[in-house]
Amino acid sequence: MIKNTLFSKTPVCIGPESGYDNYIMAIESSCDETACAIVKNGREVISNVVASQIKTHAQYGGVIPEIAAREHLESINVVIDEAFKQADMKPKQITAFAGTVGPGLVGCLLVGLNAAKTLALVHDKPFIGVNHLNAHLCGNYIDTDLNPPYIALLVSGGHTQIIDVKSYSEQQIIGETIDDAVGEAYDKVARLIGLPYPGGPVLDKLAKEGNPNAFKLPEGKVDGYNFSFSGLKTAVLRLVKSFDGKELPVNDICASFQECVSSTLFKKVKKALEESGYKQVVIAGGVAANSEIRRKIFELEKEGYRVNAPAMKYCTDNAAMVASCAYFNTNTFDDVDVEVFSRA
Ligand code: KG4
Ligand code: ZN
Repeated sequence: MIKNTLFSKTPVCIGPESGYDNYIMAIESSCDETACAIVKNGREVISNVVASQIKTHAQYGGVIPEIAAREHLESINVVIDEAFKQADMKPKQITAFAGTVGPGLVGCLLVGLNAAKTLALVHDKPFIGVNHLNAHLCGNYIDTDLNPPYIALLVSGGHTQIIDVKSYSEQQIIGETIDDAVGEAYDKVARLIGLPYPGGPVLDKLAKEGNPNAFKLPEGKVDGYNFSFSGLKTAVLRLVKSFDGKELPVNDICASFQECVSSTLFKKVKKALEESGYKQVVIAGGVAANSEIRRKIFELEKEGYRVNAPAMKYCTDNAAMVASCAYFNTNTFDDVDVEVFSRA
């Protein structure tokens, strides 16, 4: 794909067809991670820096947008400098600069996106705006030779989607949640049973110590590839209340909840694979770090499917996936006037 630089308007060819090595520096700041990375040819991570704000937000039990935006401002230059330092590279060696446009918290996105635009302007390089959800999918290209077509299960704090990825730039959402996202359900249930923020990873850990069949929880019954998790959340609330202040069997509740969520996701992914005829499936997004969801989806390898999931550090928010997305041109924006957006 041809991208223009901003001042000289010299066209630059970027992507797999460019015929030379591309080094893309990307910035990610959509929620509570300030991240910067340099990735060679969409797959090889040269440097990857993430400044997490989890400790700050844990004391409030969730992300406070204004505080997050302020912390991004404090960290942004540090992570950019560190990414250049770790890579031992100078800005002139960068082929293009990329930044997450949305969806995410507007005040947070503005910090990273303006930094990426400024780097492109100052160094007269192309700028590429990236959709955060597409970037999560592209985490699967890092350190692999994966190519479309495939079915993707995208599970994060804000989204739950099954996507038919037909080519690098052509994708169709074939199913999504009609209420809560999976990560949101994890975080809300975790809070109900008194676990600290962010609940997902803690709940996952405790679930390994519990009995997944201890409590029968309802799977959301929704047609096709769509999902519903709000009924499940209410069922956990009722279960917690039924103990009437007595000590909760926390590990068993975690295990039963995790079993219900993971088997719902698994069934729909399998159905999508069967109906599409594809032989490849990937998982992506913060919740793709979940041990039981990974285990169930990887079971599909026994049935002859190629299964891919990003390494843990490329599941949760990071900038390497953003750089990869910019390289493969999966629905990117190249207008420097592109504005941040909060919802997909
Ligand atoms: O993709 P992500 O880093 O941020 C968004 O774009 O939303 O996802 C964050 C979500 C949070 O809800 C967090 O609780 C969840 O991913 N998460 C997990 C695990 N690790 C992170 N949920 C379940 N099990 C995990 N191991
Ligand atoms: Zn994310």
